[in-house]
Amino acid sequence: MYDPVELIRKKRDGVFLTRQELKYLIRGYVAGDIRDEQMSAFLMAGVIRGFSVKETACLTEIMIESGKEIDLSSISRTKVDKHSTGGVGDKVSLILAPLFAELGYCNPMMAGRGLGHTGGTIDKLESIRGYQCEVSSRDLPSRLQRSGSVIFSQSDEIVPADKKMYELRDVTGTVESIPLITASIVSKKKAEGIDAIVYDVKCGNGAFMKTPREALALAESLVRVSQKTGLKARALITDMNQPLGYTIGNALEVMESLLFLRGERMDRHLKEVTLALTYEIHSLFYEEEKEVFINRCDKIFRSGKAYERFKKMIIDAGGDSEALEEIEEGRFIEKMIQIRSKQDGRILEMDTFSMGKALIYLGGGRLKKGDSINHHVGMELHVKRGDSVRVGDPLLTLFYADEAKKASVMSLLEKSIMIGEREYEENPLIYRSVH
Ligand code: URA
Repeated sequence: MYDPVELIRKKRDGVFLTRQELKYLIRGYVAGDIRDEQMSAFLMAGVIRGFSVKETACLTEIMIESGKEIDLSSISRTKVDKHSTGGVGDKVSLILAPLFAELGYCNPMMAGRGLGHTGGTIDKLESIRGYQCEVSSRDLPSRLQRSGSVIFSQSDEIVPADKKMYELRDVTGTVESIPLITASIVSKKKAEGIDAIVYDVKCGNGAFMKTPREALALAESLVRVSQKTGLKARALITDMNQPLGYTIGNALEVMESLLFLRGERMDRHLKEVTLALTYEIHSLFYEEEKEVFINRCDKIFRSGKAYERFKKMIIDAGGDSEALEEIEEGRFIEKMIQIRSKQDGRILEMDTFSMGKALIYLGGGRLKKGDSINHHVGMELHVKRGDSVRVGDPLLTLFYADEAKKASVMSLLEKSIMIGEREYEENPLIYRSVH
């Protein structure tokens, strides 16, 4: 029996807590014996004072133990997943999940909704009428046997401690802590019952980690703690100084993904990041030259197999095939307007954070928890950083439903694409990998 106030004081004074002490706090919080204000104080003390690697690993394990670990032992295929720390226009999961399945992997992918200015895979999939993102841990193995990949949302059975603590962190300014982010993400991934995970740690003005240094610290923490829990793990630090692909917005991103999966209109950056992440996982299990592997993936896309696999995954999750067709053909689009260049020059910078915010202001994301969203609004970019443009060239098409909301984002978006004459230096798309 511990005194919660004493434990909060200990953390406040920079003392490391033991596994038993952390267990007492977290179990007590889930059971309702530790109150929100006590957990908030503890989390804030932890954000300021930090947690040791050992404490982070303990937190992760205790959080996993708060719920069920999914049992996928009936599936003989290697179980893998990918997790992104959040970006703008990041639709990698929608492409990579069917690719994993076509490559013969089993991929239980627990995904989230939009967080802050970033988009969420579950919101994107819910733009398809009928898509059911909830799956019980009992039904998941048979769904995986049928589709190879299943994208689903976190339920109350899996890591309830994270669900409760994350909601509290969201409203107490305690999200931004590498140890807490690590415990939150790794506990959920471990509970999926997988063998290996690759993290896509986004870095740049559209990511939570703004600098390569911060991103490296998070990547190392995610990989080390995952390995401690018995997962094979790797991370790539990838650029988020412009949206990934050419669309931002839920149905628009599903549309772009469908075209990509058919081997048409494959954005170069989206393809490079997706295949690099897939290769990180593949090379944990097989020795295959990267070039040979990439050619094999290309063939999977061009044969239409990944596209057919995606449709199967959606229909198996209750998605309506006609709704999917409507999205593929852009029949959801209501009103649109183009933003054009007012000068000659080169695209020097993109304010990716503002573009993510613009989607929220348009109604395509949430201003507060529980808000309903319009899945059909968003943007299509016609340019990338480094492109040359002339006066009058289209920069961006805005897809909107509400005139007042459109008016509120036009100047934000005009300012978010910076054009100039100075020398342009390209950022690496993939900064580095962490093993
Ligand atoms: N995503 C999560 O799942 N948890 C965090 O703490 C931050 C981002």
